[in-house]
Amino acid sequence: MDNAVRNFFIYLSQNKTLNQGAKKWGLRLGAQNVVAGTNIDEMVESVKKLNADGISCTIDNLGEFVFEKEVALAAKEQILNVIEAIHENNLDAHISLKPSQLGLDIDHDFCLNNLTEIVKKAHEYNIFINFDMEDYARLQASFDLLDKFSSTYDNIGTVIQAYFFRAKEDIEKYKNFRLRIVKGAYKEDEAVAYQHKQEIDRNYIELIEWHLLNGTFTSIATHDHLVINHVKDFVQKHNISKDKFEFQMLYGFRVDMQHELVKEGYQFCTYVPFGEDWYGYFMRRLAERPQNLNLLVKQVFNKKTNTLIGVAAAGFLLGRLTKRK
Ligand code: FDA
Repeated sequence: MDNAVRNFFIYLSQNKTLNQGAKKWGLRLGAQNVVAGTNIDEMVESVKKLNADGISCTIDNLGEFVFEKEVALAAKEQILNVIEAIHENNLDAHISLKPSQLGLDIDHDFCLNNLTEIVKKAHEYNIFINFDMEDYARLQASFDLLDKFSSTYDNIGTVIQAYFFRAKEDIEKYKNFRLRIVKGAYKEDEAVAYQHKQEIDRNYIELIEWHLLNGTFTSIATHDHLVINHVKDFVQKHNISKDKFEFQMLYGFRVDMQHELVKEGYQFCTYVPFGEDWYGYFMRRLAERPQNLNLLVKQVFNKKTNTLIGVAAAGFLLGRLTKRK
């Protein structure tokens, strides 16, 4: 995809006014196809349906880049409620969380305390917690938090983003964790990350192969059928058992393929985002793939949405022009 379009949607994903506005709109712009509801009850119903089809789920209470303590505390409470809901409903599901939603940008100890409550509660119920990885600015701080738990808890894991030059080093260090391996979703500087699809794809395959051979459990999170087909061949060739890995995709994407993989006997886990804070997540999905815009253009924009996106587009263009000077 043209980098300018990608950057535009990444810029939109970080626009505070639109993020705030979106909370009031309810699920709009096609987001309802890829976000499993705005509350726990709706999310539970979605997860039950997926579980009935043999698909396990990782649940993400949407929200990120939080700078106010009360917002982070509310997110923590909601995640604790999700853990209770998983337990009460006996769901085949675990949690994906973003450290920046729980106070990473506010204060290290505050974030650590929030995470401790969550990891401890989940441990009581034998529920796994995945620390999602965000942008490079938060990468080391997120690994540092993970390190704090690794000697006490075994129900935690994280994500390796293949676009980072340091990914190989990180995967070696964390090889005994359950790891989700992804290409990487944020806009990163050329000093720290590969910029070209071919390089990212090559590193992605290398990391997956390495972890399948050397790690404990690998979650291969991609919608890329070429990668999936490569993994199928690789595990067969190396006699890697199907209980050592799973495929993951996002809720609402390539749904037919999700079911097909289950039918073929592979373990499959769907990433299920829910909540009012859907906007940033949705814009990043649009940034990843032009065809995802179909989700958006099928919807009838209301005037308020059009105006806000128009203002944001103007801001983005102005920003680019200013940078060029
Ligand atoms: P990519 O976008 O590179 O597409 C490759 C090819 O696959 C396309 O050319 C097309 O042929 C096909 N394809 C892709 N999507 C398709 C679709 N919807 N329909 C039909 N064909 C399609 N990132 C991050 O930085 N931190 C994180 O914690 C996570 N977590 C995470 C969890 C899960 C479960 C997933 C699936 C992804 C993430 N990501 C992430 C996002 C990830 O880094 C990456 O940005 C996206 O998955 C997009 O890359 P893909 O590998 O899916 O294919």
